[in-house]
Amino acid sequence: MNPRIAPSLLSADFARLGDEARAVQDAGADLLHFDVMDNHYVPNLTVGPLVCAALRPHARVPIDVHLMVRPVDRLVAEFAKAGAAIISFHPEASDHVDRTIGLIREQGCRAGLVLNPATPLDCLDYTLDKLDLVLLMSVNPGFGGQSFIRSVLPKIAEVRRRIDRLGRDVWLEVDGGVKVDNIAEIAAAGADTFVAGSAVFGSKDYAATIAEMRRRARAGLVPAS
Ligand code: DX5
Ligand code: ZN
Repeated sequence: MNPRIAPSLLSADFARLGDEARAVQDAGADLLHFDVMDNHYVPNLTVGPLVCAALRPHARVPIDVHLMVRPVDRLVAEFAKAGAAIISFHPEASDHVDRTIGLIREQGCRAGLVLNPATPLDCLDYTLDKLDLVLLMSVNPGFGGQSFIRSVLPKIAEVRRRIDRLGRDVWLEVDGGVKVDNIAEIAAAGADTFVAGSAVFGSKDYAATIAEMRRRARAGLVPAS
């Protein structure tokens, strides 16, 4: 399986967002990870649908919108209109998780559920069969450049088992503190999609960094059973 690398634009130069998006795509990015923070659900404030729509003409790969907002539902249609291909949200931020998943899919987007490091896996019990993606946070959401929380590794392995049991192609994405040095063990735990903000945008050579991350992730990836 080919690991997917999703550079997080949160660590890009926002004054040159189009150029940065083109640069990481030329460098081999598989997705553009777009972090939306509202200063309520998380203590930080970033960008909304307007900026996503402005980015759209520069995007040749899917825009992977990670909503860290409460409430969620009203923004789903706005991001779908603004060009999101994937929309993920935190279950704590929605009063009706099943409804929000339905809204995302009705809008023609792929739906993802995001689990914080301390969020148990119960919320996947009645949702996994409707999801296209599970996003496991390996930092507490709100900021780029934090350190990877290692207790998430067995959690990745458990979600991988659940996805394999289900037998559907649900992507397993990991977000926070993913670096060249730890991507192999994250892949070995079962992730197939890797968000990397500071690791990519903090490097001098985006292409070399993405290629090295992909090489190491591929070495760590276990074939789907
Ligand atoms: C954190 C965001 C992440 C962040 C990752 O709340 O969801 O996507 O940008 O940044 P790094 O890779 O620097 O940890
Ligand atoms: Zn994110």
